[in-house]
Amino acid sequence: MLSLTIDGREVGVSEGTTVIQAAEKLGIFIPRYCYHPGLSIAGNCRICLVDVEKSPKLQIACNMPVTDGMVVHTKNEKAEAGRRAVLEFLLANHPLDCPVCDQSGECDLQNFYMNFGLYNPRFREHKVKKQKAVTLGPHVMLDQERCILCSRCVRFTDEITKTGEFGIFNRGDKAELGIYPGEVLDNPYSANVVDICPVGALTESDFRFKARVWYLSSAQTVCNGCSQGCNIDMHFVLDRPHLNDGARIVRVKPRYNPDVNQWWLCDEGRYGLGWLDCERLTEVRTANGADATWEQALTSISTTLAGAGAEEGGARIGVIASAQLTNEELFLIREIFQGGLGAQVTASVPEKPGSSDDLLIKADKNPNTLGATLLGLAGLGAPDAGQIVEEALAGKLDVLWVFGHDMVEFFGEGTVRELSEKVGLFVFSGTNANPTASFANWVLPTSGYVEKDGTFVNCHGRVQRVGSVFPPLGDSREDWCILLELAGLLGLPLEWRDPKQIFLGLAKAEAPFAGLSYEAIGEQGVEITPTGSDSGAGERTGAAAP
Ligand code: SF4
Ligand code: FES
Repeated sequence: MLSLTIDGREVGVSEGTTVIQAAEKLGIFIPRYCYHPGLSIAGNCRICLVDVEKSPKLQIACNMPVTDGMVVHTKNEKAEAGRRAVLEFLLANHPLDCPVCDQSGECDLQNFYMNFGLYNPRFREHKVKKQKAVTLGPHVMLDQERCILCSRCVRFTDEITKTGEFGIFNRGDKAELGIYPGEVLDNPYSANVVDICPVGALTESDFRFKARVWYLSSAQTVCNGCSQGCNIDMHFVLDRPHLNDGARIVRVKPRYNPDVNQWWLCDEGRYGLGWLDCERLTEVRTANGADATWEQALTSISTTLAGAGAEEGGARIGVIASAQLTNEELFLIREIFQGGLGAQVTASVPEKPGSSDDLLIKADKNPNTLGATLLGLAGLGAPDAGQIVEEALAGKLDVLWVFGHDMVEFFGEGTVRELSEKVGLFVFSGTNANPTASFANWVLPTSGYVEKDGTFVNCHGRVQRVGSVFPPLGDSREDWCILLELAGLLGLPLEWRDPKQIFLGLAKAEAPFAGLSYEAIGEQGVEITPTGSDSGAGERTGAAAP
């Protein structure tokens, strides 16, 4: 360990630590543009100047390794004057676009000027003109005049995606950021360069001129685009629909989690949430498309379920649940349908694997396959949707409930039509309409995953909380809410009233979740160790005792 003093406070750090990292350990923020903890050190912007005793000149904190006994001042007049001069230099050619710049409100040029700049500009010459509003690819636009040449974007595409689209061309005040001739910025992680650009040089095509950032609300959640479960901040508007064509989600940003996605997010996840605001199911519907109430639907469904569950020789009910549902909902489905009614339940459907890579993107496009496996609804030993469909076609089922899937995609329209005619009751519950819904006797609109609380288990065995970003759309309801109401109508003695209580019940019943609570899961999740043998599923300890 090395010991140093920063602004009068002593701290111990390991060898190889830089001054900027040591300061962070003390909660002291040193301004930075080019420094990013996920990238190599460039040391080119000079905004992180600090005064190191016994050193004749100011030093850059991002590239200065700590030595034992070092004494650093980050806020004395010498350091602040140095940083002010660097800021004045960086702003010399920077356009005064702030009123129309998307970065306004979260721009580190603005912020640092207000924090320690506040100089009277001495630059009287004309600013150098460069290209504005250059389309770099499907998601990113460049304004060369705003770029401060920190090279974060260059290093991101060199070191993280290894696609190398960016370069800095020319010299002196003619130096400019661009992509190489013939290149298009369309790698699967392209929009991350917007997140790391400290100024408004790189902006999202999708977000341009849509909203001022200070009008946006923000909530923490996870991406449901694949089984990696990247942590995100969802930025939304509920009370100003004119800002975003009536949609609630305005943009999505990665949220740092060292154990899941670090600072990054794939474009597929970032731009794949349009379904939450488009073509949603918002009304309960009967087979002929007529509107109905939740009370009518659940009373009718529960009456049929009670009859089918009490059949001699076993229940004639099949349930095709989904790995898009939360652990709490899958647990309720298991307790009600399998435990309470003796139904066959699965969350395993014949989906084709999607694309994957060795950074974040996983081939399994469901966020909770491991959760479903730990609950015994997927993986080895669990029935699959094909078996349930066969039983329905053979006339062995009176009720079939499908949670969100498009069975037409898996089994073809003819098969779904036939099975819908064979079963007496076909229920479809989901967020968005699909061809399968048109064959159902009841269509129940359910809330999207960010409209309810709950947890997913990602592919690495990390339980993460989804959080509730905004309320359900229209008359849609949370699946857990529908299931609890149904349990009440069926006379099943479940005492849980919300996802938090359901999770505590689950944690009591399932060994891999033992001892966990929403508080313990926190904002960044908790890794659980699957205890199963061959299936990778955790050992189950039997039905829950509510
Ligand atoms: Fe840095 Fe942004 Fe310029 Fe890239 S575009 S070099 S991230 S300022
Ligand atoms: Fe240190 Fe840029 S942050 S030189």
